[in-house]
Amino acid sequence: MADFDYDLIVIGSGPGGYVAAIRAAQLGLKTACAEGRATLGGTCLNVGCIPSKAMLHASELYHEAKSGALAKFGIDLQGTSLNLDQMHAEKSKAVTELTGGIEFLFKKNKVDWLKGYATFESANSVSVAGKTVSAKNILIATGSSVTPLAGVEVDNDAGVIVDSTGALALPKVPEHMVVIGGGVIGLELGSVWLRLGAKVTVVEYLDQILPGMDEEIRKESAKIFKKQGFDIKTGTKVTGATVKDGKATLTVEPAKPVPSGAEGGGDASTIEADVVLVSIGRRPNTDGLGLDKVGLALNAKGQLETDHDFRTKVPSIWAIGDVIPGPMLAHKAEDEGIAAAENIAGQTGIVNHDIIPSVVYTYPEIAGVGLSEEQAKAAGHDIKVGKFPFMANSRAKTNRDTDGFVKVIADAKSDRVLGVWIISSLAGTLIAEAALAMEFGATSEDIAYTSHAHPTHAEALKEAAMAVQGKPIHI
Ligand code: FAD
Ligand code: NAI
Repeated sequence: MADFDYDLIVIGSGPGGYVAAIRAAQLGLKTACAEGRATLGGTCLNVGCIPSKAMLHASELYHEAKSGALAKFGIDLQGTSLNLDQMHAEKSKAVTELTGGIEFLFKKNKVDWLKGYATFESANSVSVAGKTVSAKNILIATGSSVTPLAGVEVDNDAGVIVDSTGALALPKVPEHMVVIGGGVIGLELGSVWLRLGAKVTVVEYLDQILPGMDEEIRKESAKIFKKQGFDIKTGTKVTGATVKDGKATLTVEPAKPVPSGAEGGGDASTIEADVVLVSIGRRPNTDGLGLDKVGLALNAKGQLETDHDFRTKVPSIWAIGDVIPGPMLAHKAEDEGIAAAENIAGQTGIVNHDIIPSVVYTYPEIAGVGLSEEQAKAAGHDIKVGKFPFMANSRAKTNRDTDGFVKVIADAKSDRVLGVWIISSLAGTLIAEAALAMEFGATSEDIAYTSHAHPTHAEALKEAAMAVQGKPIHI
């Protein structure tokens, strides 16, 4: 230790980095965290998970009040109007409280915040704001940024072609918003502006939205979104965009080759929009890190590779979160942060990458953990599937909240649960039970014979598990 300023320097204070820094400090390591943003918390707290959930929550409340959906419960509201500035202010307040909370936790745990962007000088030192700082170990947690789309240039200040950061801060409700990419960001932020009154068109390259999810879930979700008013154009690619007088014109064409086999795929057409959201994925942040100085190369996807312990091929350098392979999710980054810190402290930190839930926070929410039906079959499992619709769940029916279903996929021989998929207003909360069950190696029978409180949406998971054996009670 005498030779270094710190035991550990973490680069980046997103959910991966700040959690790793706190855990390392808890384990007695002298720890610093470099962050170039004005506030701690990374993408997630500043321009990702938190502000998007704030806008989703507020826009859902507005839509419920405005649409007259509450009248059937005897709640008559007249004159509901939108104060978008106040909605943004409340979102910003939540962000400030939470990012300030990380600063408090750093102080409490004696983690030093090195203010500035870090560049490697050697395998044991970085330069931050012109100062060299050394550490026995360095953890890269620099996260990710928006993947650019050639010919469609993002300019958040102009506010016509924007990325998620721009779409979270639009000063007025667009008349027509075109979302490029029918993935998580497009559907969440598309939902916000649809609820606030915009016409929203989603242009998706593939022939289904939400890649990576169970096919049945993808199809049902698309049906629900279309019913809500989304115009979803799948199998379509954007080939360019021009902006004139505050409006964008997008050129689109079918994504698939025409039957003759010619490239380009059919007739091009144009779509006019006053806001275009580019949400075609994110890519790791590695520019400016000076990886060449320490002999670290990137893989074909621009990610840093690590071993099972999150150590790169340079023994003193570790990496976690969006900058390494795996789903780009905050809780995945946090779990890796804890495991990496424990490994650096000489303990055994492990992440089970097979059981990482994912949630799309639309209405209803869409959640999954483990394998989809297609992945389970492709992996060679004989499977049994149990499904239960919320239409038959007493609490969902009582709340007039019956969209969606639960799908449990189990191995036909061992009955071990391989995957669970849920569409429900509470899917994001319900999926935690499935993840816990799977982490403990549960069978569908284990879930089916676990007492679930009545009346709750969670009973639908129990009934879907009962359906694996063909014996649900309420359908
Ligand atoms: P990040 O959170 O990206 O943090 C990296 C930090 O490192 C940044 O603050 C950056 O400034 C800093 N940094 C980069 N380079 C340097 C350097 N050289 N020196 C110093 N600092 C540096 N995930 C979920 O699980 N749930 C959600 O609901 C969710 N919603 C999202 C909504 C949006 C709009 C977006 C864009 C993302 C969302 N995500 C969500 C994804 C989630 O934000 C990321 O998976 C998560 O933030 C990754 O954490 P990380 O610690 O790897 O990196
Ligand atoms: P994504 O990977 O979820 O979706 C991108 C979509 O764009 C895909 O459907 C893809 O097929 C499509 N696409 C790619 N190129 C295209 C093109 N040229 N034209 C049309 N469509 C194209 O990426 P997204 O939505 O940008 O989100 C990035 C990351 O952020 C995701 O990995 C996600 O995990 C994370 N995130 C997580 C959230 C959550 O957990 N609730 C919320 C928001 C983001």
